[in-house]
This record gives sequence, C-alpha cells and structure tokens, in this order.
Amino acid sequence: MPALRDHWRSRFGFVMAAAGSAIGLGNLWKFPYITWDNRGGAFVLVYLVCIAAVGLPIMMAEVLIGRMTQKSPVGALKQAAGPVWALVGALGVFTGFVILSYYNVIAGWSLRNFVRCTQWSIGDFPAGVSVADGFTDFLQSPPRQMLVTVLFLGATMLVVSRGVGRGIEQAARFLMPALFGILLLLLCSALTMDGAGRAIGFIFTPRFDELRWHGVLEALGHSFFTLSLGMGAMITYGSYMKRNDSVVSASVLVVALDTLIAVTATVIMFSVIFTVPGMEQQVETAGTVGMLFVTLPEMFYTYVPLGRVLAPLFYVLVAFAALTSTISLLEVVVAYFIDERGMSRRAATAFCGSCILALSLLCSLSLGAWDVLSGFSLLAGKRGLLANLDHLAANWLLPIGGFFLTLVAGWVLTAETTRPELMDAATPRWFRYGTWRLFIRWVAPLAVLAIILTVIFLGEDFS
Ligand code: PHE
Repeated sequence: MPALRDHWRSRFGFVMAAAGSAIGLGNLWKFPYITWDNRGGAFVLVYLVCIAAVGLPIMMAEVLIGRMTQKSPVGALKQAAGPVWALVGALGVFTGFVILSYYNVIAGWSLRNFVRCTQWSIGDFPAGVSVADGFTDFLQSPPRQMLVTVLFLGATMLVVSRGVGRGIEQAARFLMPALFGILLLLLCSALTMDGAGRAIGFIFTPRFDELRWHGVLEALGHSFFTLSLGMGAMITYGSYMKRNDSVVSASVLVVALDTLIAVTATVIMFSVIFTVPGMEQQVETAGTVGMLFVTLPEMFYTYVPLGRVLAPLFYVLVAFAALTSTISLLEVVVAYFIDERGMSRRAATAFCGSCILALSLLCSLSLGAWDVLSGFSLLAGKRGLLANLDHLAANWLLPIGGFFLTLVAGWVLTAETTRPELMDAATPRWFRYGTWRLFIRWVAPLAVLAIILTVIFLGEDFS
C-alpha cells in the first residue's frame, strides 16, 4: 500500500507553486531579449495571442490530467490514455532532466551577480570597470562556475526533499510574494526614468511591418517554455491538487501572473536601456542574451534611482524566480521515481540530484572553461553544450511533448470525461467548455505542429 499522496495545503499554495514554476528565467532573461530581437510591439501582441490560444488551453489540460489521475506524468498518461502514452510522460521526465541541467547553471549566475552587486553597493562601483569582462572571467572560471551551480542545485534539492506541502508550497508562499514586492519596487523606480515612455511605446505599439514569420513561431515556442508546458510539470503539480480545487480558475490565474511578470520585467529593463545614452547601440552590438547579467548591473549604479539598494535586490529576485522553477523541474523527475519506482522522497531526490549535478557541471564548463564542451555543436549551429541543450529542449522536446498532450486531452479523453473535470462550482461564469475543447482539439495542436514542421524543414531556431 503506497503512502498517502502529499497534497497542497490550500488553493493559494497551488497557485503560488505553479506560478513559481512558470515565472522564472523565461520571464526575466529570455522574454526581454527575444522581445528586443523581434522589435517589440507586434511580437508582444502575437505572444499574448499564443498564450491565450495555445498556452491557456494546454495549461488547463495538464492540470486536469494531473488532478484527475492523482499521478505524476508517466502514471497519469498511462491511466488516462493507455500504456503507450506513458512514453509521453517518460519524455517529460527526460525533458525535466535536460532543462534542469542547464537552467541551474544560468540560475547560479544570479548568485554571483548578487554577491558582486552587494560588494559594489557596500564599497563603491569602480569607475571604468568593464562588467562584461568581469562576467566573461567568471564564465570561464571552473571553480566559481561549479560553486554557484552546486549551491543552486543544493538549495533546490533541499526544498524538494521536504515534500510538497512542507517544502515546495512553503517555499513558494514566501518566495513568490517577495518576488512580486521587489518587482513592484523596481517598476516604480523604472517608471520615473526618462526612457519609460519610449519603453512602453516599444513594447505596446504593434508595428506589423517589422514582424517576421520567424518571430511568430518564436513567440509560440516561448509560450511553452515560459508556462512550463509540454513536459508534465503542470500534470505533476495538478496531481497534488485536491479533487475540490478548481482547474480553470487556478490555470487562468497562473497564466495571468506569468504574463504580467514577463511584461513588467520587460518594461523595467527597456526603461533602463532607453534612458541611458548610447545603450541601445551597445545592446544591439553586444548581443542581447547578456542583457540580464551584463547590461543591467552597470546601469543600476549609474542611472537607476536608488540603484545601490535595488541592484542586489534585483538579483535576489532573479534567484527566487529561478529557484521556484528549478524546484518544479526537479519535482517532475523525483515524482517519477517515487510514484513509479517506489523510492522514498529523500532517496529519489539524492539520486536524481546527483545525476543532474553531473550534467549540470558539464554545462557550467561549456562556456569557455573546457574547450571540448564549449566547442560542442550539434544543433542549429549552436556552440557549447549549454546552448545545444537549451535548443534541444525549447525547439524539440517541449513542442513535441505539448503536441502529444493536446492529443491526449482533446482526442483520447472523451468530452464525458473532461467536461465534469473542468466544469465545477468554482469555474468562472465566462468559461465555455465547448471553446476549450475546440482549442485543445484543433487550434493548439495545429499551431504546435506548425512549430515542429518548421523546425524540421527550415531548421528554424526558437530558443
Ligand atoms: N517556466 C520556466 C521559466 O519561465 C521554465 C520551466 C520550463 C520550468 C519547463 C519548468 C518546466 O523560466
């Protein structure tokens, strides 16, 4: 007789944990830079449409499958759709393993920037210092890279080993409100800056002549990544919901929070960029991937009101956001070993954590420290193990997983099964079951198929 399944202690706990999973480096690091690369406005609009038309229905589908079966992805899909579909769950577990291995490394950088900024805030920001050079040194230093990677994964393992209610929920209940608070403070500071008006114009004024087909597909791919969809993270979190918690309202809240945070973070960053003279050109030429870790620190000390206080706080925010996401990634892998292999939570966490650490350390050395790993190139001309794994997950694993999940929710499961799961006393009045079914059967799978086919035939890069 297996031990009783751990559950969220409250609806608020689930929403914070799921929003914590969704809100992460995807919102603070990826979204701003892809928005910049795609010239704002029209891209943001397309992204919002993708979130509403594809992301939201799949979010509901994943949470529904989890709550209905009370199992993690492998067992959930086996029970809901049949033994062959368990393979989709297994793909999800593998995807969690891959994403966590590199995500954890980038998350670790927030610790490094936090320490550096604290030093600068206490002492003085040294004039003439190159933040970019300092960061490159750090990327190429094996001991420092490995240290932050170990620390970040260690923190993630600590939370996951404490379980759902006592570990994950407790952490999210504290970290998420703290994150919202810090972001609000930063937003207030950003809105007083001269560049705020231009930033808002750039983000919210659609200029369709600047939109490229590639941008549409990138927006779609990113909506999976940012909402943690396509690998069963939301099935796993849904499986810890009690039967009387509403799937629809919780999903809507999570999607809304994720979108709000992504847009807010972008307004903050662009306000800074548009305020600083010459910054725009610098961002264009230096590449936009480093916006979060390289472009911002210098700005905090030179242009941002109260920057001395806000800079270290900002990296606390990034660390918190990343931590609640790494927790969910590890939980998917750990839950598989608990549910399907009968391991204890502690043993599963220790085992999965050690395997992930091994791959993670290799990723951390692939940024210049170790030539073999840094030069490694398999996919779409990406250089380095880390970049290749990111490409693999965002362009292949998540869309493929997401596609099969729409088939399960829309085609394998009957309306008689899914309707009562979605329509309960707490379901918002505006929600129409028929609309969800139309989207999950047609709109979402066709859109996802479009990404997969484009990747196959055109070799597009969406990461
Ligand atoms: N959604 C997270 C982010 O935006 C990343 C993530 C993907 C987490 C898939 C869990 C599963 O950063």
